[in-house]
Amino acid sequence: MVSSGLDGIVAATTRLSRVDGDRGELVIAGYAIEQLAEYATFEETTWLLWHGDLPSVAQLDTFAAQLAAERDISAATIRLLRDCADRQIEPMDALRIAAGTLSLMSDDAPGIVARLPTIVAGYWRLQRGLEPLAPRPDLRHAANFLYLLDGEPPNPERVKALETYLNTVVDHGLNASTFTARVITSTGDLVSAVVGALGALKGPLHGGAPGPALDMVFEIADASRAEAALRRKLAAGEKLMGFGHRVYKVRDPRADVLARAAQRLFTRAGDMSLYALARAVETQALRLLEEYKPGRKLQTNVEFYTALLLHGLGFDVPLFTPTFAVSRVSGWIAHAFEQRQANRIIRPESEYIGPIDRTWVPAVNRSSGDWLTADSGAR
Ligand code: ACO
Repeated sequence: MVSSGLDGIVAATTRLSRVDGDRGELVIAGYAIEQLAEYATFEETTWLLWHGDLPSVAQLDTFAAQLAAERDISAATIRLLRDCADRQIEPMDALRIAAGTLSLMSDDAPGIVARLPTIVAGYWRLQRGLEPLAPRPDLRHAANFLYLLDGEPPNPERVKALETYLNTVVDHGLNASTFTARVITSTGDLVSAVVGALGALKGPLHGGAPGPALDMVFEIADASRAEAALRRKLAAGEKLMGFGHRVYKVRDPRADVLARAAQRLFTRAGDMSLYALARAVETQALRLLEEYKPGRKLQTNVEFYTALLLHGLGFDVPLFTPTFAVSRVSGWIAHAFEQRQANRIIRPESEYIGPIDRTWVPAVNRSSGDWLTADSGAR
């Protein structure tokens, strides 16, 4: 029997994360996400995933120094990013293109994690006519990323908020991009796995949802207009971005972690209007999703509050999905390590439903209207 979307198929064992979609729980290597996200540094979370335990102080310092030492990207990568900026290539495509050049430097795991923020921030600046900044080895991973974007000394509250986000989305079972990374690892190398995973992540059904989710909130603009605007979308058969999840049938626990972090950020900034609007939109959306899609158990997913938190950090929408990648790359690599430990090529089967017993016809004798025409989609 075919399982469309591989629904319900268990394709790997993992010690990295447990996603309980019925109870709304996410455990990262033994720690509830609520425990880890707000307290760990991103270096600690990455170490935890790669080694199975939190690091000692000495291990953490060594690992942080190793990441800090590997942040520079090659001149060829910067040239490529300049070309991408000249052509107005989308940031996720530029990241995917540039990630392939990681093999020019060392292609070890810390090097990949260390260099992704340099690529993302460098491209963000180039697209705005600014020169990329040199990484600061004296700063930790999250602080350095903020510095690389705006050149300002990073404020601890912003660092904490970003780090909470990076920890929250670092790993999440066999999601599409992680599965892609494992498939590629089963036959190939780490850089290829990361490049493939970036391709899987960028689409709006996976990592590309927070931009549209924020656009939706801005478009509604006023809580009193939320119901009418959302009804229009649902009646037109549109999906509400930031809602629904393949696994979670109750509220995504990451949404709550990020909602709290966003609330703290907006409270400190002294303007709660956007936060209040997002809450109102969420309430209406959940009510209307139950009305239009009864029984589908559509709840708020991580992307809705990702949008709010990253916006509160001053990030613009094109930076949202690349920032997701800056975090998830640690998870992809952890899965690659796990895959390598007990590797077996990932090779599912397909059920053939096309014709059989056809007879070869030379090209000159073929009639148009054959099923192999350009617009049939059959190639
Ligand atoms: N708005 C409206 N209807 C929805 C939504 C939504 N956000 N999500 C699902 N539905 C509906 C579907 O249309 C379908 O209706 P039907 O039964 O009448 O055909 C039903 O609910 C089941 O949805 P599927 O698309 O089959 O669920 P699936 O598990 O395949 O998809 C997904 C999950 C892709 C996340 C989906 O809910 C979606 O597109 N959500 C919006 C995009 C989004 O927020 N993506 C981010 C996900 S989180 C992440 O990847 C990090």
